[in-house]
Amino acid sequence: MKDFRSDTVTLPTPEMKQAIFDSELGDDVYGEDPTVNELERLSAEVFGKEDAVLVTTGTMGNLVSILTHCQRGEQIIIGDKCHIYRAEAGGIASLGGIVPRIIETKDDGTMDLDEIESCIEPYNVHRADTKVVALENTANVVGGKILSKEYMDSVKNICKENNLKLHIDGARIFNASVALEMPVSELTKSVDSLTFCLSKGLGAPVGSVIVGDKNFIQEARKWRKMVGGGMRQAGIIAAAGIVGINNHYAQITKDHKNAKLLANGLKNFKELNVEEVQTNLVFFSLNLKNPGLLADKLSAKNVLGGNSGSRWRFATHYGIEESDINETLNIFEQALKDI
Ligand SMILES: Cc1ncc(COP(=O)(O)O)c(C=O)c1O
Repeated sequence: MKDFRSDTVTLPTPEMKQAIFDSELGDDVYGEDPTVNELERLSAEVFGKEDAVLVTTGTMGNLVSILTHCQRGEQIIIGDKCHIYRAEAGGIASLGGIVPRIIETKDDGTMDLDEIESCIEPYNVHRADTKVVALENTANVVGGKILSKEYMDSVKNICKENNLKLHIDGARIFNASVALEMPVSELTKSVDSLTFCLSKGLGAPVGSVIVGDKNFIQEARKWRKMVGGGMRQAGIIAAAGIVGINNHYAQITKDHKNAKLLANGLKNFKELNVEEVQTNLVFFSLNLKNPGLLADKLSAKNVLGGNSGSRWRFATHYGIEESDINETLNIFEQALKDI
């Protein structure tokens, strides 16, 4: 099976399975799981932050971070195409009573700096106080685009001047860091909090981590507990995450190379309009009456990733080798001929 649907479909590597098997465990709600403690220490070190906390998912990491930054009735500034707004079931509003102030996400994943500034509400009895700005790096639905350190620093400057916090949905921050050849500690130096996923490009089966300063993480632990994320012998999750972090560079470098290879091959098909690829996500639109037919032809040949929509995303990851890309391109060629 060549499964391009997402970088979340990976199965744990043999090294991860061994690490899970060998992991020392304890009750993490008591702070006694040595493997979770090691993952949190390692995460804080890699990001150059004071502390870190393991959560179940990226969605929980973003929710807990924003609940920690904002109280009910306060405002977050976020992009209209970001995952927090579009794909986390409205959790910040529904569970947190937090008011999203939506700005257009541009094609490069950024929001206009002047527009961010203009959405900040100074204290006024009529208004929801603005407390936080959230960015997504890499920015998923606009094509896995990378936000530069300079851009994030500019947003941070606005935050600083207005006493706001900057949160990064860094589900795929390691993809940005590898593509930029810049350590995550440098790339995200100015941010106040960040969630990254163990279960995407890092290839682990479960989990995400929030990083930030000591006080923030202490408070976040309480919110994590409240939303049901206090796990017990969670070292079996953390063990695979540690392997993923330690091995990320080679794996993600390979994923990016494969994504470019796939994109370059797909560009040869006149029915497809392939977008710019910066990381591991390949987006393309299809000039076909019935894209679902092509998806069916591909899945009959064990290539997953298509659907009935007119814009598809193919993700490269630990489960995809260069030979899979070549075979996939051949399968595309035949399937396009057949329909
Ligand atoms: C950019 C981004 N943020 C957050 C998430 C949420 O991660 P999870 O599926 O672990 O909740 C995703 C998931 O695909 C994502 O793409």
